[in-house]
Amino acid sequence: MVIEMTAMIVNGNEIAKEIRKKIFKDIIQLKKKYNITPMITTVIVGNDSSSKLYLKLRDNACKEVGIISKHCEFDAKISEQKIFQTIQKLNVDNSVHGILIQYPVPKHLSQEKLIQVIDQQKDIEGFNPVNLGRTLIGDEYLVPCTPLSVLTILEHEHITLKGKDIVIVNHSNVVGKPLAALLLNRNATVVICHVFTKNLKQYTSKADILITGAGVPKLITTDHIKDNAIVIDVGIVETKEGIRGDVDFDSVKEKAAILTPVPGGVGPVTIACALKNIVKTYKNCIENM
Ligand SMILES: NC(=O)c1ccc[n+]([C@@H]2O[C@H](COP(=O)([O-])OP(=O)(O)OC[C@H]3O[C@@H](n4cnc5c(N)ncnc54)[C@H](OP(=O)(O)O)[C@@H]3O)[C@@H](O)[C@H]2O)c1
Repeated sequence: MVIEMTAMIVNGNEIAKEIRKKIFKDIIQLKKKYNITPMITTVIVGNDSSSKLYLKLRDNACKEVGIISKHCEFDAKISEQKIFQTIQKLNVDNSVHGILIQYPVPKHLSQEKLIQVIDQQKDIEGFNPVNLGRTLIGDEYLVPCTPLSVLTILEHEHITLKGKDIVIVNHSNVVGKPLAALLLNRNATVVICHVFTKNLKQYTSKADILITGAGVPKLITTDHIKDNAIVIDVGIVETKEGIRGDVDFDSVKEKAAILTPVPGGVGPVTIACALKNIVKTYKNCIENM
């Protein structure tokens, strides 16, 4: 008799709900202790439609746990200097307990320069070189939210990382590189693939855990994974059928052991991880005031 098994589908919404519940309680305690309501500011440049949904979801999540979320909005043609000045003002404003820049930003603005201007204590996304450096050397504090979300999911599903062969399809500064550091810090063997990788399947098909964030629908098919692999889909793409990830979900779920859906997988947990980081930046600000 052949028993057909399909993957366990991770419920990112449930994991995020558990995190939000805990943060709601933490924030009540912190407000009692300090008598100050946490307030964060997002710097938004231009009118990118893809980031609007994410922004709305994060604002709702903030409201639910008792964090005030404000926006500083600018026209797409704003100069880099003006944005720098705005961030510098937010850095020294005691009523602001965390700063975010909404990505993507228009091409004339350098993402690398912008993240260096945010005070490392208020750096919710953990992209400032000091915070990224801390992640790299294993002194994890403000860790970028998407890699933290992947780690949170793996830990939630009780997946041991030590000694596992893990392949990441993404080598961006916001996803692949910090994620590789988190996994190396836990003694996994990590391979990073990207658009110039010659034979993607050759790597992905050997992975115990495959984490993909290319933003290419159906990039990952059953041929790319080994039997019973754990597959985490970070990709978010708008397609004619709706929001999808990188993974050909319907076929891969028949071969993988654990699979995250899109939507409802990594995305909601990423927002919850941003809330976790806000609690840290809030404490930094209050305790160093
Ligand atoms: N779920 C969440 O919480 C969350 C959060 C952030 C981002 N995302 C999503 O994750 C994806 C990646 O975001 P990002 O900001 O890291 O984007 P990005 O900077 O464009 O990174 C995409 C990565 O995938 C690689 N890639 C693209 N096409 C590929 C292909 N055909 N084969 C192999 N590698 C390929 C790119 O390589 P090159 O750099 O060499 O081109 C790059 O390393 C997007 O879909 C984004 O919407 C999701």
